[in-house]
Amino acid sequence: MALQCARYPLGSCGTPTHGSLLLLLLSLSWVLHSRAQTADTGQGVMSLWLQRTSQDLSWQRPELTVILRRALRGTEKKACPPGREVHVVDEDLIFYKEWELEACVDGALLAKQMDRVNALPFTYQQLNIFKQKLDQLYPQGYPESLIQSLSYFFLEVTPENIHKWNVTSLETVKSLLKVSKGRKVDAQVAALIARYVVVGGQLDKATLDMLSSFHPAYLCSLSPEQLSSVQQDVVWAIRPQDLDTCRPLQMDVLYPKAHIAFQNMSGSEYFARIKPFLGGASTEDLRALIRQNISMDMATFKKLRKEALLRPSLGPSTSLDLDLRSWL
Ligand SMILES: *[C@@H]1O[C@H](CO)[C@@H](O)[C@H](O)[C@H]1NC(C)=O
Ligand SMILES: *[C@@H]1O[C@H](CO)[C@@H](O)[C@H](O)[C@H]1NC(C)=O
Ligand SMILES: *[C@@H]1O[C@H](CO)[C@@H](O)[C@H](O)[C@H]1NC(C)=O
Repeated sequence: MALQCARYPLGSCGTPTHGSLLLLLLSLSWVLHSRAQTADTGQGVMSLWLQRTSQDLSWQRPELTVILRRALRGTEKKACPPGREVHVVDEDLIFYKEWELEACVDGALLAKQMDRVNALPFTYQQLNIFKQKLDQLYPQGYPESLIQSLSYFFLEVTPENIHKWNVTSLETVKSLLKVSKGRKVDAQVAALIARYVVVGGQLDKATLDMLSSFHPAYLCSLSPEQLSSVQQDVVWAIRPQDLDTCRPLQMDVLYPKAHIAFQNMSGSEYFARIKPFLGGASTEDLRALIRQNISMDMATFKKLRKEALLRPSLGPSTSLDLDLRSWL
């Protein structure tokens, strides 16, 4: 029964006095002290403390309730209080406390009523609890039926979630891109595109156009053909890390685009911009760069095309300490 008092902080477990506050703080430091001494029996200490304090003290001070709730977390899984069970996602849920949502809401219900979840003004904290419920229900990844109905809830999921999905419907991709527009979810969008393409999905022109409004973190998921239709202004937005997983055939398409895009820049400025794209550069272009007395770091050098570095007199040069000047 001791726990009942803690669970209903506004209930009538006594009246607050300064004395009781002092006693609580003393108890708290006592708990921390004894926990340190008996680290492996922390749970026993905690329940002992709960019994002691709830006999003596009031829980009407919200800050104390918070302390207690934090202390409780992880040591006890609370049951849903009678009468608070959730059978439908409706307005009432908005007024549930976070621990009540944790105790009373079922992941399968959320998956079934995702449209209602999206229609109601839940807080970020509440939505995050819902997300955890879904993650627990689907540890291997959300089923495609749920992904199709995610809509705005897509903004709550992480790239790690998405990398477990199978997305086979272009309509789903489009609907999720629509809700993502103008939000900072570029990594999620990149993951979504990757998961669509990896199961054989084809992106159409309309989808590629939609993609151009996102940061191009998705580029390496596109085929060389799709990359060739990527607009020139997208090239300006590419960061080096966006190209990390691109394959040589993709770099072959991206380099000429970057070469043209950055043409209005001068020597070192141009080099700084073009560097991440050099994996797709031809022998002639590389030579022209090196003649400009530009020093290339080893990371960039290792990404160059082996064929571009071949010269009949030298043969294949993969040695790490290759002197580029002697190669001219
Ligand atoms: C995705 O597809 C793979 C291969 O068919 C399957 O093993 C995996 O369980 C699927 N994942 C989900 C979340 O449906
Ligand atoms: C080159 O062109 C781009 C876009 O057309 C522009 O943003 C950039 O400032 C230009 N750079 C120089 C050095 O003119
Ligand atoms: C090339 O760079 C080296 C080292 O940065 C410098 O000593 C040399 O004068 C430069 N040569 C030309 C032609 O710019």
